[in-house]
Amino acid sequence: MKCELLFVSLQHIYPKRMKHLIAPSVLAADFANLERDCKMINESQADWFHIDIMDGVFVPNISFGMPVMAAIKKHATKPLDVHLMIVDPDRYVEEFKAIGADILTVHYEACTHLHRSIQNIKAHGMKAGVAMNPHTPVSLLKDVIADIDLVCLMSVNPGFGGQKFIPNTYNKVKELKAMILEANSNCLIEIDGGVGLNNAKSLVEAGADVLVAGSAVFASENPIKTVQLLKSVDKA
Ligand code: DX5
Ligand code: ZN
Repeated sequence: MKCELLFVSLQHIYPKRMKHLIAPSVLAADFANLERDCKMINESQADWFHIDIMDGVFVPNISFGMPVMAAIKKHATKPLDVHLMIVDPDRYVEEFKAIGADILTVHYEACTHLHRSIQNIKAHGMKAGVAMNPHTPVSLLKDVIADIDLVCLMSVNPGFGGQKFIPNTYNKVKELKAMILEANSNCLIEIDGGVGLNNAKSLVEAGADVLVAGSAVFASENPIKTVQLLKSVDKA
């Protein structure tokens, strides 16, 4: 939790000097070697573990649930950034807190009472995130932007790793950044899907604070080195 808190306070004081965070997506790990892959993330310069929970209803795919996340928690030494791609996420807030989520992100499209869902996550002592599908305009967050800790902009349609990055994400990052500055909020912008060494620098320059990377890290020859390279891209 420490680095995230530090990051948020630094963002407040030095809005232009903060370093972006890297969150490798465990969805792309080798589940038969989960302990090994968690240790790799621990040893790398990664800041968070990104954990994708898919229910086969909100998205066409089923990933994994509580027992696997509990196994990740057992080995992870960094904050768990949990991305819920499920319908009716309110039902599971308490359970995700109990198994170690630090940041809990729900989808805008899955929450009828988004403000209530956000307050519920915060009341359980977690940071609250809102994820948005590629077709959902960021302007819809205007009235909750001051209440949330993170916006996860989906740069692919959620459900699968290894998809192609959607370039319109750059416009969304810029618009969201302006909205966050306008609201004088500490909300972080996370980009999820198709992120790699080819676009990391441009995303950070556009205003991204957190880069999620699944296949770019785990399918690379040297994942620790790839994390280091993703971390070392700098604004121009
Ligand atoms: C997609 C998930 C992503 C995914 C990213 O629905 O939310 O977090 O794991 O994988 P890559 O980086 O391979 O696109
Ligand atoms: Zn995700």
